[in-house]
This record gives sequence, C-alpha cells and structure tokens, in this order.
Amino acid sequence: MTITVIGHGYVGLVSACVFADFGNNVYVIGHTSQKIEKLRNGDPLIYEPGLKELLEKNLLAKRILFTTEYEKAISSSDIVFIAVGTPSKANGDADLGTVFQVAEKLAPHLKKGFTVVSCKSTVPVGTNRKIEGIINQYKPKNAEVAIASCPEFLREGTAIYDTLNADRVVIGSDSHKAINFLLKLHKPMNGKRVITNLASAELIKYASNAVLATKISFANLISFYCEKAGADVENVLDAVGMDKRIGRIFMDPGVGYGGACFPKDVKAIINIGKNLGIDPLLFDAVEKINYEAKLNFAVKIMANTKTKKVAIWGLSFKPNTDDIREAPSLFIIGKLLDMGFKINVYDPVAESNVKKVFDETKIKYFTDPYKAVDEVSALIILTEWNEFKQIDLEEVKKRMKDLIIFDGRNIYDHEMMKSSGFSYYSIGRPPIKNI
Ligand code: UDX
Repeated sequence: MTITVIGHGYVGLVSACVFADFGNNVYVIGHTSQKIEKLRNGDPLIYEPGLKELLEKNLLAKRILFTTEYEKAISSSDIVFIAVGTPSKANGDADLGTVFQVAEKLAPHLKKGFTVVSCKSTVPVGTNRKIEGIINQYKPKNAEVAIASCPEFLREGTAIYDTLNADRVVIGSDSHKAINFLLKLHKPMNGKRVITNLASAELIKYASNAVLATKISFANLISFYCEKAGADVENVLDAVGMDKRIGRIFMDPGVGYGGACFPKDVKAIINIGKNLGIDPLLFDAVEKINYEAKLNFAVKIMANTKTKKVAIWGLSFKPNTDDIREAPSLFIIGKLLDMGFKINVYDPVAESNVKKVFDETKIKYFTDPYKAVDEVSALIILTEWNEFKQIDLEEVKKRMKDLIIFDGRNIYDHEMMKSSGFSYYSIGRPPIKNI
C-alpha cells in the first residue's frame, strides 16, 4: 500500500517507519523544510531508542519519503494518517487548529478512487466528524473518502516495541471498506483488534490515559498518607497490588507524571466532560494530586537542605527519552531558583532541551554525574535512568559537601540506605536522617 503520514513527532514518525518496514511506500509530510531535510538525512529529530536505525534502513530501501508538499503524496495514497500535535490551550482544551488545517490542505489532493483518512492525533469526541465535514467540503467531487480514528498508545522510550506489540489496535469508523483497509495495514502487528465507531475510538484514547494518570495519582496520594503515618508506600502498594483485581503495574509513586500526553489529556478529558454536562470530579482530583506531588517534593528539599547548592540527576520526564514536556524537573528547578538555590544538573540526553528553558546563566550543566555533585549540599534524583541505580555512592559521598539525597523516584533500597551514611528522603517512605 501507499500511505501518507502527516506529522513526524513520536506518533507520526514511529508509525511511518514501522509501516515502511512492513514493505509499504510511506510519505511523511512536515511543514518545516529544515526538519524535512534532516529527516531525509536520517536524523529522527528526537531521541527514541532504535528509531534512527529503523529510519536509516527504510530510507536506504527508498520506502520512506519526506516532503513538505501535499499533492503527490496524498494523490497516490490509499490511507492518509493525520498525526499532528494537539497541545493544550490556556483553558485546557485540546488545540485542534493544526488538525483542521491539515484536513483542509489534504482534501483537494485526494485521488479519484477510494482513500481512508485516519486520525492518529488524540482528539476530543466529535472531532473526526468535523474532519469529515472539512474533507467533504474541500475534496474533489469524484474522490471517495472514508474517515477513521486509529488512536495510538505508544510510550516514549519504547515506542517501536509498543507499536509492534500493542495490547490492542483500535479502529473506529462507519465504513467497512475503511476498516478492512486499516486491518490489512495493521496485519503484521500483534494485539487484539477493537472495531468500533468514531466516538468510541476517540474516547478510548482519553479513557486509557485518564485511568493510567489516575493510578499514578492514587499511588501519590497514598504516599502522602504514608509520609504522615510513618508507613512505607512501597510495602503498602506491593501488598495492595497483590490483589489480582488491582495489580501493581503503573502505580509507582514519584514526583508526579509529566510528558506530552498525561498532563494534556487529563486537562482535555476534564473539559470534554464539562462540555458534555458531566462533572469530571475524579479527573480534577487526579490533576490536583499531580501538582501536589511536585510541590511536596520541592518543599521537602527546601526544608531539609543545609546550604542552597544542590545537584539534580535526571531532567527528562521519564528515562530513555530526551523529552522534557511537562517534566517535573522544570517545576522543581523553577521553585528552587525562586528560593535562590544554585543548581548543577546532569541528564544523559535531555540537556540541550532543558537549555532552551533554563540557559547556562541560570543553572550549571554537567556531562558527568559525579562532577555534578562536587561540593553540593544535596543530590536530587528526578528521573530513574538506569545509570543512577547502581552508581558508585561511595564516590558520590567523597565529592558532596553534605550527604543528603532526595530521591523523587524511589530508585534506592530503603534498607540499604539506612547504612549508607547519607540522609535519604524518598517518596512515601520514612526519612533516614544520618547527619
Ligand atoms: C503515555 C501512555 O503510557 C501511552 O500509552 C500514551 O500513548 C502516551 O502517554 P508516555 O507519556 O510516553 O506514555 O510515558 P509513560 O511511561 O506512560 O509515563 C508517563 C509519566 O508517568 C512519566 O512522567 C512517568 O514518570 C510517570 N509514571 C508512570 C509514574 O509516575 N508512575 C508510574 O507508575 C508510571
């Protein structure tokens, strides 16, 4: 098949590379020519394990083609995916401006025969009907087109694996022909198939992200209880999760969820509910708890450091990505700077992105985690990169001024830290005060 993917972010580029790898001819449309040039030369523009290799392989096989032009790509495609961003507007609504713009731009180039236009962007209920309206308004008279919604559930850091091994492939459409086209395209992928209508497909994506964010906020709320009650949140949640009806997965307490999806999608589902006349009580609380998780941690640091010189390890919103969108590190750094802290930072890949928010006059960047802790009064861990888990804490100890660790991801064993010589403040576990 020939397909076009409009948008080359995590969802667009990963899907395009995977579909090309299945043997399809794939056009990827972007709107910034410098970026398209880089993509043509094998630079995926984002850090995602395995993506560069997959991109280079399919560029070499001439199965993936990057362009800023709509005409040739759209007119030769059987399926067109819209995979552009839907960021939050100031009021929390998903900003659908780009989605509608690309629908208007692609429509005039649809070929005479049949084309499926499928939306992979996360869009509120009813959006695909609006896309359908735009396309019908601008398409050539003889173009036959069917609209579908194909939400994407990939996680950053494991995006290729997730795309190939999804738990489910959701296809929402009124058109049997469109469903069959999409089933054929997704055939090599693992996962159950869910065939449904447009509104259900749109809601499945928000409902999935909302329940995952709810699990995290639940874990964080329980961690607040544990801190006040002297309990250990890891023991509590391990035992809670042993109940097969509950499970332990995705209930790790921490310094709050971030990233391109949960913060935006929780805001959007709150507004979708309000627009439908529903009071989204639960999701309001999920968002509030996430804010409290970040704030509590910042307060914990301020209350327990001896001087205002600290080091932070981990800046991306989670490991194996350089993405810093809504990363808790940005919030914590902002709060500490407001209080006059001097901050050294280290992250294996996210440094250049953070520099765009806090330049070198505001915080000090290090390429070596050990050098970052020289003479600091506290080490703050905000992302659970593997390289921090078995780091040489004796070496860290030699370099630090005061031996205090604030662990926002509970990466160290609580028992082990009791004899480590460090004072250790983690999430939902009793503080260890060694100095
Ligand atoms: C998420 C969804 O998992 C994915 O299905 C959807 O398509 C996009 O949004 P992603 O944002 O890449 O994926 O990362 P994810 O691994 O889900 O983590 C999101 C945030 O939650 C991170 O900040 C992470 O640190 C945090 N998190 C996750 C927790 O705090 N505790 C957990 O138990 C799990």
